[in-house]
Amino acid sequence: MAISIKITKTPQSRIGDCDFNNIPFGTIFSDHMFMVDYEDGEWHNAQILPYGPLSLSPSTFALHYGQAIFEGMKAFKTAEGEAQLFRPHDNWERLNLSARRMAMAEIPEELFMSGLKALVDLDRDWIPTKQGSSLYLRPYMFATDEFVGVRPAKHFKLIIFSCPVNAYYPKPIRVIVEEKYVRAFDGGVGNAKAAGNYGISMLPTAEANKKGFDQIIWTDGVSHKYIEESGTMNVFFAMGKKIITPALDGTILAGITRDSCIKLLREKGYEVEERKISIDEIVEAHQNGLLTDAFGSGTAAIIAKIAAFNYKGVEYTLPNPEEREVSNWLYNTLYSIQTGATPTSFNWIDKV
Ligand code: COI
Repeated sequence: MAISIKITKTPQSRIGDCDFNNIPFGTIFSDHMFMVDYEDGEWHNAQILPYGPLSLSPSTFALHYGQAIFEGMKAFKTAEGEAQLFRPHDNWERLNLSARRMAMAEIPEELFMSGLKALVDLDRDWIPTKQGSSLYLRPYMFATDEFVGVRPAKHFKLIIFSCPVNAYYPKPIRVIVEEKYVRAFDGGVGNAKAAGNYGISMLPTAEANKKGFDQIIWTDGVSHKYIEESGTMNVFFAMGKKIITPALDGTILAGITRDSCIKLLREKGYEVEERKISIDEIVEAHQNGLLTDAFGSGTAAIIAKIAAFNYKGVEYTLPNPEEREVSNWLYNTLYSIQTGATPTSFNWIDKV
């Protein structure tokens, strides 16, 4: 079934006002957005319109009950000027996983992909080409019922907008291991990209920022001994010949960049272990000189090198970021695949 999308173009593009050499993350928005509404068990009224304010009732359900989920994904330009998306089907799948957990409507793949591609096609000139940059796409869905009372909503709105971006972290980061607050627990929503998971991270992150750290590393909610993920990304540790990352046990996000890293590393011959990893093990590896690299992975963060981590007030500094074998190789390989400079045997690229 072909999807019909009504397209209303902006009368006046804002692209001339965008300084592509200076794009603070998430502050500049392209000309258009995709929008579609769910009502009576079906998605209706798919449209692309100029990026702009929404009109919502004060009783909009998501605003008080938090039925809201989102995704983060990217479009790139190849050297030949073609626009391409990186693993968009995986984002669609994860959006629906989040929707199921939050009792929201699932979106059909064809509708999601058609809206996404039509939007990127229309705003393709907004895809930056400077090394490390891309067009960040933010699909999100929220409950729009005008209602007070706790039961799953019946109306939803899905929107996709986009922003030209560089990497989320402009330099290697200092992180602190969080031992007071908890992000997720067994049976919770840790593996869903639910808006609330980010809402609850604001206070712990602000407290860490106040102490001079860029980010926190979440630990498990029972013992605070095992690493979960960082505030905006999954985490990896290189120890000797092994690269270790926390397993997907339901409390952490199944990062698409995480999965790409694991596949690329294994293809290259690295031994990657997905398992429980304690802070004590990391500290011990550091003390024995085995901890050669640590980094976060995420769509926004790409590969974010960890310069140092702090645990119980002790600072552990990692090797010089410029000389890191694993994170530098991963960053370059990933970006090169995303921009089409290096072909990949993985089915990750979707041309627009
Ligand atoms: C992403 O990496 O796409 C995210 O959603 C994280 C967010 C902090 C920007």
